[in-house]
Order: sequence, then C-alpha cells, then structure tokens
Amino acid sequence: MSVVKQLGYLAFEVSDLEAWRNFGTKILGLEVVNDRGEAGFSLRMDSYAQRFFIEPGPADDLAVVGWEVEGPEELEQISSRLTTAGHEVLQGSADHASRRNVEALIRFSDPAGNPVEVFHGPKRAAEPFVSKVVEGGFVADEQGFGHVVVVSKDDAAHEEFYATMFGLKLSDYIRCEYFGHDINVTFMHANARHHSLAFGGGQLKRIHHFMVQAKTIDQVGKCYDRFLFSGGMLHQTLGRHPNDRMFSFYGYTPSGFHFEFGAGALEIDEGWQSTTHGKVSEWGHHPPQLLTKAYRRAKEAREKQD
Ligand SMILES: [Fe+2]
Repeated sequence: MSVVKQLGYLAFEVSDLEAWRNFGTKILGLEVVNDRGEAGFSLRMDSYAQRFFIEPGPADDLAVVGWEVEGPEELEQISSRLTTAGHEVLQGSADHASRRNVEALIRFSDPAGNPVEVFHGPKRAAEPFVSKVVEGGFVADEQGFGHVVVVSKDDAAHEEFYATMFGLKLSDYIRCEYFGHDINVTFMHANARHHSLAFGGGQLKRIHHFMVQAKTIDQVGKCYDRFLFSGGMLHQTLGRHPNDRMFSFYGYTPSGFHFEFGAGALEIDEGWQSTTHGKVSEWGHHPPQLLTKAYRRAKEAREKQD
C-alpha cells in the first residue's frame, strides 16, 4: 500500500491579502513568491518552490490541504482506492497543477468536507531558502511544511479514512479538560514529524491552526516578540506539549484562525508506540485572559492604596 510522504502545502482563502503579506514575511519569516497582486501570492519556507497559497476571497479559512506522494503510480493507487471506497475524485487540470507547481494532482473531500489534494513532482526552488527574520530557517523539507489541525465530524471515521486511504499512522491522542472545554484530539504522522495532521471534533472554521517549526527555541521567542510588538493577538502563551514535546505559542492569523510557531519537537522512530495523554501541555499554553485578569487585580489593588 502506498503511503503519502508528507504534508506538502496549504491554501488559504483570505479577505486581507496585504495583512497576510506582512504576517507571512515579518512575523512568520517566510518569503513571498509568485506575487500576483490582487490575485494572491505564495509563500516559501524551504527547498520547495511554494508551501502556502494565499488566495483572495471572503471565507478567511482553509481552502486546500495538499499531500505529496512519490510518483504517478502512487497517485493512481490513491485515486483508485478512494474511488473504490465511494469517494468522488477529480483529476486536477494541467493549469491547476502548474498553479500548484507540481507534476500532477487529484482533488476530493475528506469525510468532514475538507478539500484535499494529492500530488506528485513538486518543483524545488532554484535558490536555497534564507529567511529574513528566522535565523536557520525551518524544520521542513522531507518532514513537510509543518502540521495542520482540521475539523472532523466523526473522529474514529476520520482516523480510519486517513489510515486506510493515505497510510497515515496514529501518533497518539490527547483527552482532557482544558478551561471548561473537553479536548479530544487525534494525532497522525506520515514521516518523522510527530504529527502532520490532527483533528478533534467540530469548530467554527475548517482549520483550527497550522504550525511551522523553527530550529531553536530562541527563534520561537523572537517570533513571539515580533508578534506581540506588531499588535498581534495571542491565543495561547508559550508552553510545551506533552506528545510532540513542541515548545510553542499560538496566535491569531489575519484570518481569525490560529497559527502555532514552535521548536524542539521530538521525531517519530520505528518502534513508536501510540498512547493517550491526559493533558494538552506540560506547562504553559494558557489563554492570555489569565494575564489580563492578573493585571486587572493588580490595578484594582493599586487604586485601593491610592
Ligand atoms: Fe499544533
């Protein structure tokens, strides 16, 4: 059975292209390529020619998740497996493939209705990637660009779909309570990256967050500073996850869904045993409202003294 190699790209439909240009380059440290003005642009982060397709539109949501396979044979195998299982598969046109900078692709929707593409033959950039703000660049290339957390309708069916159609393997689950919310997330991997895909029930948009991984924790701290000083809104403070060991923070993208910027994740090896974790974070990853509450209390105490 063929297995997808990696999470290759994401496309977002965004209402404010200029805000995404700034966010992508100045906060995340990616590079704008294939800039088509009002028609959108792409972002690169490693040896691949393009990793994020930023397209104009009102949705402010995930538009496509793109997965890479080795070659045309593997693409055909996945296509026939999907068709046999009753999923409608569309062949991507030559124009579509050239827009994505790949040899060929197919399109379909996963069980939650997330638009998915599978491709082979991605173009590589002519020049090595050098970030203007993230020293050392990103952990990407053969591990894919990072990870994505998407909506699912039925977690067990979602896991079954990605295991049988793509050959993704279970990494682990996180099941716990977090500030009054029941968390129940499934994490799956395609390569050494702990998870390329995660999902856990319903949410307002198709995407909860995507993650990019710098090479050192100092680069996470510097991104945290850039984001805060740019007026960005935090979603979760700095923290460390128990499963992939990622040291990271979460913020709001200009489209209202979240991004995670991290470093220091472990890598999956041959003898990986999946497990269930009972917490989201070893420490940190708190909602910033906690800080606001503490500031308000301190201010009230000071006013009482005066
Ligand atoms: Fe994440």
